[in-house]
Amino acid sequence: MSNEYDLAECQEVVVSAERLQRRITELGAQITADYQGRPPLLVGVLKGAFMFMSDLARAIELPVEFDFMAVASYGNATKTSGVVRIVKDLDIDLGGRDVLLVEDIIDSGLTLKYLRTNLLARQPASLEVCALLVREGLQESDPDLKYVGFHIPPDFVVGYGLDVAERFRNLPDIRRFTGTA
Ligand code: IMP
Ligand code: MG
Repeated sequence: MSNEYDLAECQEVVVSAERLQRRITELGAQITADYQGRPPLLVGVLKGAFMFMSDLARAIELPVEFDFMAVASYGNATKTSGVVRIVKDLDIDLGGRDVLLVEDIIDSGLTLKYLRTNLLARQPASLEVCALLVREGLQESDPDLKYVGFHIPPDFVVGYGLDVAERFRNLPDIRRFTGTA
């Protein structure tokens, strides 16, 4: 079929859909236990975290609230420069809130470092991070992540919200990207 999705650049599954869902169920249970009596405000970082945030929220048995922010980092498609620009800011005031920042992947950790400083300046009651993926060994300093889905090898990955040049976000699993960006 000529209109079939071309997956030649991402054949190798790094985290299957089943493993993703099993781990998200565990993370949801842990967050439910940790946030008894103080339901968190989930802050998703667009666009990469949208799918993870949606599944994670359904695994949390607390009346959570949602907000989103979008950031762009200056740099090329597969490397972060560390200079981050807020493209869409939050709607909700973080003052006194228990904020759980939901990220797709921590690579160099520079985006997270910027976001943490930015969000802490808004004086939340607490700020923790839930990252679906952490790329092994690339962070300069300890990124202090309370909740982590999976540690993965250095290869660039796509799927389940993650893209290369806006492609492959709707794959149900995480795959290694072997093409050129
Ligand atoms: P960091 O600032 O180097 O930690 O980069 C974090 C951001 O870069 C993530 O939120 C992603 O948007 C993007 N990113 C890093 N690695 C990947 C990847 O393997 N696939 C897709 N996006 C990635
Ligand atoms: Mg991102």
